[in-house]
Amino acid sequence: MLTNTRTSYGLAARAFHWLSAIAVVAAIAFIELKGFFPKGTPLRDAMKLAHFQAGLIVLLLVLPRLMWRFTQRVPDIAPKPDRRVEWLSHLAHWALYALMIALPVLGIVALQNFGREIHFLGFTLPTFITVSEDTAGEMMELHELLGNVILWLSVLHAAAAVWHHRFVKDDTLTRMIGKMS
Ligand code: HEM
Ligand code: HEM
Repeated sequence: MLTNTRTSYGLAARAFHWLSAIAVVAAIAFIELKGFFPKGTPLRDAMKLAHFQAGLIVLLLVLPRLMWRFTQRVPDIAPKPDRRVEWLSHLAHWALYALMIALPVLGIVALQNFGREIHFLGFTLPTFITVSEDTAGEMMELHELLGNVILWLSVLHAAAAVWHHRFVKDDTLTRMIGKMS
């Protein structure tokens, strides 16, 4: 079923989740791989371009995803987790959503204000905001810091899902990957 039910995520929420997860992981992987290629080589530039494409896909997905999210109920977890665990997981999810918006926006604004054109799937992005080069430099630093935050938060998030499945033995993970009801 496309929509969420009382007990499991629907097809749309799952598609949004896994496509975004792949794009976030790809954005991080490409920018880390870039470091293996010497400056000025075509492969290094290709890694950067791939980082931008993956990052822009994250931004493209997150807005319809959030709109969809607000129209859907979150499936219950059985057995019901402790209130504090539930609160922590909500905090992590909203932090991930915020990072999926903030990271691409910071990347775009910083790059454009350094005078670089950004191409996405063959189109050139229009310039939305103008800031000074100093501010752009600070935005880039924040982008790199938040890039590391999303990396570690995603690792924790995935580990928590496996922990629920393996040790708590509840249906947190199967609601997202198992049979749809
Ligand atoms: C969810 C999406 C994104 C994530 C998770 C992400 C993450 C990262 C990370 C981890 C780094 C490297 C930080 C370091 O070296 O420690 C980085 C660098 C960078 N990112 Fe992103 N980023 C995203 C989207 C974007 C977008 C959309 C753009 C621009 C269109 C962009 C532009 C850049 C630039 C210019 C750098 C510096 C590259 C260099 O070192 O030459 N990023 N990003
Ligand atoms: C192998 C990696 C991953 C696994 C196993 C996984 C698993 C899950 C599971 C089981 C849920 C449902 C949790 C619940 O409802 O309490 C969930 C939700 C979520 N995941 Fe992941 N995830 C992974 C990667 C990622 C990545 C890379 C991101 C983004 C950076 C992400 C963002 C989210 C968000 C925002 C939600 C909340 C969905 C909602 O609003 O209901 N996940 N994930």
